[in-house]
Amino acid sequence: MRLTIRDLQKMKRQSERIVMLTAYDATSARLCEQAEVPVLLVGDTLGMVVQGHSSTIPVTLEQMVYHCGLVARATTRPLIVGDLPFMTYSTPEQALRSAARMMQEGGATCVKLEGGTRMAGTIQTLVQAGIPVMAHIGLTPQSVNQVGGFRVQGKDVETARQLLADAAAIQAAGAFAVVLELVPAGLATLITRRLHIPTIGIGAGAGCDGQVQVFHDILGLYDALNPKHTRRYIDAGTLLRSAIAEYRADVLAGRFPTEANSFAMEAAVLALLEGEADDAGH
Ligand code: KIV
Repeated sequence: MRLTIRDLQKMKRQSERIVMLTAYDATSARLCEQAEVPVLLVGDTLGMVVQGHSSTIPVTLEQMVYHCGLVARATTRPLIVGDLPFMTYSTPEQALRSAARMMQEGGATCVKLEGGTRMAGTIQTLVQAGIPVMAHIGLTPQSVNQVGGFRVQGKDVETARQLLADAAAIQAAGAFAVVLELVPAGLATLITRRLHIPTIGIGAGAGCDGQVQVFHDILGLYDALNPKHTRRYIDAGTLLRSAIAEYRADVLAGRFPTEANSFAMEAAVLALLEGEADDAGH
């Protein structure tokens, strides 16, 4: 049985840290489930780490629904958060249609959307329709062109107050949890203390109720950016590259495939075929 948003809220009440990791396909999702990660985010970061774009802006709803479906089909236990991509929730009506697709076709347990106070009305509409919403404030990557890069948000009094107000507004609107991205640790701790819903940090320090990271970042599979907020638990890129090079060298040298990787047929059948080929002058 899949975890529910109630389980996450209970984890906050019991001060149990929440672990969330992105997953974009069946293989990565299965690995996460086997490692007992309770929350999988099918994030629009797939635009960067899977599709090779420099931002999340080009990702479409169609693609998110597809990737959600891969993750949902491969797992039974984790709660699945489906990220609504850029410009698919610009009105409450559009948000309803997009979220419905993520849940009905993609199998998401809930949706995530970026924005604070300005999104409160949309969050309310979704929640009233029975769609659980995880909000996302601080650095919101879909607005990267507006904020001018991937930079820490809420460092001065005015922007920090705005983030506190955003957090309060999305909680009041009915969001069940909130991602805090690139927020100073002290401010994230303050927000976490003030909210009764869980905060999940990425570059927001250890004071959040949970942490989220990008699959490719913690495994060393993505080189285009090397954010300070991540930790590489393995340099899988180097390991995979050397395995692929070994495969190439084996093929070139005739070391692969061997008999162990091949399929035999009866010698008599082969002899018959060889005789026929000889008769035909081949
Ligand atoms: O899309 C994503 O992976 C995200 C995380 C960075 C929180 O939104």
